[in-house]
Amino acid sequence: MSVYDYIIVGSGIAGLYTALLAREHGSVLVLTKGSLDECNTRYAQGGIAAAIGEDDSPDLHMDDTLKAGGDLCDPEAVRVLTEEAPDRIADLIKLGVAFDTLNGEINLAREGAHSVPRILHAGGDATGERIETTLGVRLRESRISFLENSLLTNILVDEGGARGVEYLEVGSRTRHQIGCTYLILATGGAGQLFRYTTNPSVATGDGVAMAYLAGAEIMDMEFFQFHPTALKLPDAPPFLISEAVRGEGGILKNSLGHAFMKDYSPQADLAPRDVVARATVREMRKASTDHVLLDITHLPSQRVTTRFPQIYRFCLSQGLDITTTPIPVAPAAHYMMGGIRTNSWGETNIKGLFACGEAACTGVHGANRLASNSLLETLVFGKRVVERTMDGSKGVAHYPKDDSLYLRVPDRAALTGQNPPPTLERLQSLMWESVGMERNEQGLMLALGTLAAWQGQLSDHRDRPSAELRNLAITGRLMAEAALLRRESRGAHFRLDYPETLMEWRRNIVITRGE
Ligand code: FAD
Ligand code: SIN
Repeated sequence: MSVYDYIIVGSGIAGLYTALLAREHGSVLVLTKGSLDECNTRYAQGGIAAAIGEDDSPDLHMDDTLKAGGDLCDPEAVRVLTEEAPDRIADLIKLGVAFDTLNGEINLAREGAHSVPRILHAGGDATGERIETTLGVRLRESRISFLENSLLTNILVDEGGARGVEYLEVGSRTRHQIGCTYLILATGGAGQLFRYTTNPSVATGDGVAMAYLAGAEIMDMEFFQFHPTALKLPDAPPFLISEAVRGEGGILKNSLGHAFMKDYSPQADLAPRDVVARATVREMRKASTDHVLLDITHLPSQRVTTRFPQIYRFCLSQGLDITTTPIPVAPAAHYMMGGIRTNSWGETNIKGLFACGEAACTGVHGANRLASNSLLETLVFGKRVVERTMDGSKGVAHYPKDDSLYLRVPDRAALTGQNPPPTLERLQSLMWESVGMERNEQGLMLALGTLAAWQGQLSDHRDRPSAELRNLAITGRLMAEAALLRRESRGAHFRLDYPETLMEWRRNIVITRGE
């Protein structure tokens, strides 16, 4: 078996940036299950948050992050995130990412729950594409080894910790093993759990599922962010309408033309994302419609087309001119706040196994992520992962005794009743109906029973679709377990049967695999 110093799984911003740093310290292999640029990163629109403006500071950025996070963020992790942000932006610029400027200064935009303009963007609303393309070019130039169409199927662990990976060559369906000293999971999110999502097809929770199977701690899985403004047009493919559109003055209106957000929050259209998403659902329900309207027709059309060129062109390709017609939008699954539990050095409870990016749960997002903090998180903690490996020892996280709730989940559960065989469509519908924006005990119990049964039936992973379906069933089940346990509402987790936020629930839920 060949052995690398670092194996990095995933080629979004977290995987590529970490690989570029790691190659200074040893041999690196990047594994990715599709093509190099298939990832959530590529679709990021709004931008990346950092306190670089004159009227801004890391402390103010920290305050906003903690407020949005529903009293559940880890303050130390947030301090690290916000203090190290300007340096990581400087790294991106050095690597060649050209952020948009105005009069020679970086042009900062506003997004929900940020108290000042703080969002750097590139190509207007093409921030993710610019970052992904630039880092991809740097990776190829630096001759780092990478394998495309290579899907991680198993983490190899022994008493000494993580020692390598098993992966499936997707085309030939053959399996291989490779060893490593440090294994870094940068496998991204899990939006494909839900019927409506902004995420591309690679977002199937693979890293979380496999880390869980390998014995890693998984945290905050009940918190999944729904973005309030995904395009809602019959037959249009999933497409996000950035929060930055509201930052520029876009206004949400109901079917009567009423600007409803001021009825729900003093921050109106720029309230935290969970507040806007729930308000949107309520307005849709009141009017029995499947969308509300996002209106930017009052803005000068040239400002719209230059600030949001991708959104403008995409909507036009669907027959909608957003400079003259309000945009029909509805909530869709967007971002996984929970994930593989790490400390602020990206270490997990398994020696030598690290996680960063959306797959990881560093504690910075709490119950509700502040917009544009996720691209930033990948850089800040990706860098710290590599720093941690520089002394040559295999890292492992030790946590002080805390009041987190620890839950051990067995692989199989007693089955009740008959379940239809698992398919992606069935799983996505079940999750949307029962583990979506509004939850209750009955729906969560139904989801849990069905997902546990499916998990038992999906042990085989002979090809990419079957491996992904298994990973979705496991990730969905962990989400339903945590959501059932949390008998309160907080941030993105809303229980119809427990609508209050309770002091006694100001704690994290940590799941591990049980017997
Ligand atoms: P990803 O970019 O998703 O990369 C994951 C990689 O892992 C992929 O290459 C995938 O193929 C690979 N992978 C997964 N499983 C396996 C496996 N089993 N084997 C091998 N490879 C595997 N955040 C912001 O901060 N600002 C924004 O403006 C913003 N806009 C967004 C807009 C959209 C439409 C979406 C979907 C997300 C947005 N986000 C935004 C969130 C942000 O883009 C993501 O959180 C971030 O890009 C995650 O980066 P990552 O590297 O962790 O994961
Ligand atoms: C957006 O542009 O609205 C997405 C920003 C984010 O998810 O952080």
